[in-house]
Amino acid sequence: MSRRMLIAGNWKMNGDAAQVDAFARDVTQGSDSLSADLLVCVPFVYIERMKQGLAGSRVALGAQNLAAEVDAGAFTGEVNGAMLADTGCSHVIVGHSERRAIYGETDAVVAAKADACVAANLKPIVCVGETLEQREADETEAVLGAQIAALFEQCDAATLAQVTIAYEPIWAIGTGRSATPEQAQGVHAFLRGQIADRDATLAQSVQLLYGGSVKPDNAAALFAGADVDGALVGGASLKADSFLDIAHAAG
Ligand code: 13P
Repeated sequence: MSRRMLIAGNWKMNGDAAQVDAFARDVTQGSDSLSADLLVCVPFVYIERMKQGLAGSRVALGAQNLAAEVDAGAFTGEVNGAMLADTGCSHVIVGHSERRAIYGETDAVVAAKADACVAANLKPIVCVGETLEQREADETEAVLGAQIAALFEQCDAATLAQVTIAYEPIWAIGTGRSATPEQAQGVHAFLRGQIADRDATLAQSVQLLYGGSVKPDNAAALFAGADVDGALVGGASLKADSFLDIAHAAG
């Protein structure tokens, strides 16, 4: 089955109003000829501004987190899926390693947030990945297998049908040291196999993104992997030119 390519930007806690405006203007001008799907996930407070800037473009909007609680209520500081859908988002990044490591999000929280996305008609991009210590101890497949198992055990079936998985080796995030194309393809094939063990049809359609120091100069080689269906891009998504160069590498 041919799967669409998705190039997703994760701005993390970066950017300001001027940067949002410049990015939206330049990406809108530069993205017409692309065949890959494009998505940019900005801080909550800039989603509306990015939406205005991207009006008429084919770039979709996403958030980087959401509340596990579905219904509105007394959850000070939280933003629920319905609000994000209302603001024009189509996707939400869930369970990024920074949220797992810094904010203590467990597999159970990640699963609940993925379910909360789908309850609001949003697509969850669920992140998985191993630390350098785990890779060097030959635990990569055990760690990723456990993260996939938790997702399948804890999420609703309706959620699994909507999920995109992002493989983000923690040692490659923000380090300039990407996984090699062979490492990325190897892990993606493993992840697709884990999913196939549970649902062969879903395994064929699920998009598997690679994230971790994706740049214009390594994107094409990474995308050559048969099981690499795009990228989740951090630093290189903050400027339109590098984001577009990566998207061009995807076709
Ligand atoms: P970098 O592309 O900056 O390594 O970040 C990757 C990432 O964490 C995307 O979610």
